[in-house]
Amino acid sequence: MNKWLQFLPTVSHAQKRPGRAPSLNEGANDYSEKEGSQSNSSKIDEQTTNSASERTAEAIPVTPRPRRKRVIVAMTGATGAILGIRLLEQLRQLDVETHLVMSKWAEATITYETDFKIPQVRALATKAYSSQDVSAPISSGSFRIDGMFVVPCSMKTLSSIASGYGDDLISRACDVTLKERRRLIVVARETPLTGIHLENMLRVTNNGGIIFPPVPAFYIRPSSVDDLVNQSVGRMLDLIGIDAGNFERWDGFRKPTHSKHM
Ligand SMILES: Cc1cc2nc3c(=O)[nH]c(=O)nc-3n(C[C@H](O)[C@H](O)[C@H](O)COP(=O)(O)O)c2cc1C
Repeated sequence: MNKWLQFLPTVSHAQKRPGRAPSLNEGANDYSEKEGSQSNSSKIDEQTTNSASERTAEAIPVTPRPRRKRVIVAMTGATGAILGIRLLEQLRQLDVETHLVMSKWAEATITYETDFKIPQVRALATKAYSSQDVSAPISSGSFRIDGMFVVPCSMKTLSSIASGYGDDLISRACDVTLKERRRLIVVARETPLTGIHLENMLRVTNNGGIIFPPVPAFYIRPSSVDDLVNQSVGRMLDLIGIDAGNFERWDGFRKPTHSKHM
């Protein structure tokens, strides 16, 4: 047996199945698998200290690790609940693992602004948490994520992010995302803005967050609110490297081929 093979990580059942390429979904637990693979590397180091001449790059087995993306979605009590809901719908469709937390006022705006019931929104996510549960996994930097969205984000939650005031799960998870230097996308919604709002936005930006006001792009000549919502959500997904492919991108001026009512 090749001496390197004993150090290969165990292949999952899904990967073992014949005649089937691993999908994006597979490796949902790859975060923990990676931890396992680290100890494998240290084993390799131990075993090969005395045989450095055999440690050529070609001799090191490479195990491809496709894994499912994992994001946190926080919803707060600013208007625009549909943006958070659409984002959850799209992430579900794209097979992204989602961890949802809604504030008390997010639940109130969802109920007021949309036809969705709160359990329906929770069901769109892979996992949902109470905003009061700061012991949830997403409260720790050791829980690895590909990014976090606060959508929509109220000025109250923005100020708690800007000041690092982690008194609930939303502001705590935001703080953790920033400290771990991960992507934080803050869909801050208010108009007009005070100096306090603007300073808070600048503070979050200077600490690595992305302020993404849900400002409509009229150049898409929207036929409906849905068009605008999809465009905004599509641009949000761009920020974590996902092309939802469901909105029109700017491609330079084109002669209108259709007449829309705007
Ligand atoms: C219907 C409705 C719409 C609101 N829209 C906004 C808004 O667009 N921006 C904002 O900062 N606050 C808005 N608020 C106020 C927030 O809900 C309030 O400041 C709340 O304390 C935010 O708490 P949270 O960030 O924990 O959800 C709105 C409240 C209601 C009831």
